[in-house]
Amino acid sequence: MLAIEADALRRTYTSRTGWPRSRRTETEAVRGVTFEVAPGELFGLLGPNGAGKTTTIKMLNTLLLPTSGTARVFGHDVARDPVAVRRRIGYVFGGDRGLYDRLSALDNLRYFAELYGVGARDQKRRIAELLDLVGLVGREKERVEGYSRGMRQRLHIARGLLHHPDVLFLDEPSIGVDPVAARDLRRTVADLAAAGTTVLLTTHYMAEADELCDRIAVIAGGRVRALGTPGSLKSLVRERDVLEIEAYGVDAERLDRVRRVPGVRGVSAEDRGALQTVTVQTGRGASDLHGPVLAALDGVRIGRVTSREPSLEDAYIAIVEEATGKSGSTSGDVHGGVHGGVSEGVSA
Ligand SMILES: Nc1ncnc2c1ncn2[C@@H]1O[C@H](COP(=O)(O)OP(=O)(O)OP(=O)(O)O)[C@@H](O)[C@H]1O
Ligand SMILES: [Mg+2]
Repeated sequence: MLAIEADALRRTYTSRTGWPRSRRTETEAVRGVTFEVAPGELFGLLGPNGAGKTTTIKMLNTLLLPTSGTARVFGHDVARDPVAVRRRIGYVFGGDRGLYDRLSALDNLRYFAELYGVGARDQKRRIAELLDLVGLVGREKERVEGYSRGMRQRLHIARGLLHHPDVLFLDEPSIGVDPVAARDLRRTVADLAAAGTTVLLTTHYMAEADELCDRIAVIAGGRVRALGTPGSLKSLVRERDVLEIEAYGVDAERLDRVRRVPGVRGVSAEDRGALQTVTVQTGRGASDLHGPVLAALDGVRIGRVTSREPSLEDAYIAIVEEATGKSGSTSGDVHGGVHGGVSEGVSA
């Protein structure tokens, strides 16, 4: 039996805007999303801000009803049998909400164990197990208000696991977590999956997705644009090479000029303080593009220029740009929206 089945899931939000005369506006957040996740699989949902990832997760974990389409968790329909679904799942949303600051980690876990109906006899053992799993042993009696973000995030994961869920939804678990804590977190997630828990994860960190995920669905504009193993997604851009150029003060006009260089397949730019990294995807072996690309950047200071094989991030950018028809522009939610240093529009 499959752990998760999403079949043509759709969700439209209706909200009211304007005053004094309010208008109804409809947002089609998810527009027909279909995928399957096998038991024990670590499945990633990637996509720009507003792609519909959180909305998809909220339909799968019964927090939102689909506008249409169906979804099942271990065979239980999320709309018809939410109680059975909830028994099998846990979820953790990135960010700070959902813990009681004035209580210790231990008391938080006791409280949620009660709430989730973990039997009194199991509670103590389960909580000890989880504190060990997330590396908080020895700190469990401290109040959560004194916890760092990474510790909170790990406590959230422990909370999400209290009732032994078969499926764990992790929505941006590593947001705001330092690199060392993020690595610990990844290890925790990988261990969980290795022990048989099905994990559905969203992240904006491509390296994290590449390292962790068995398979990845890239969604943009509410639709699945690509689905496969990290390797198979990378092979979508295998015929490309990537040129990385450090530069100072590249404007949108120059980027457009680079885009128009024959043989260039995609261009993005990311700000790193005063420095920008311009990433240019070219046809494989097109080393003769170095000259024309640098000529197109004429007038700005150029730092290091390197050429490399495409990464998951490159594949992701190519998929999203193709999906949103943005391969020409530097503006809009696709570029500016992806945090975690994927790609930032140079001009707003
Ligand atoms: N409660 C809501 N009411 C109205 N619109 C909403 C609501 N929640 C989300 N949306 C809209 O639905 C779309 C998808 O949002 P969603 O939160 O699912 O995106 P996401 O992929 O999780 O993005 P992010 O990477 O920023 O977390 C967006 O256009 C968003 O503005
Ligand atoms: Mg989200």
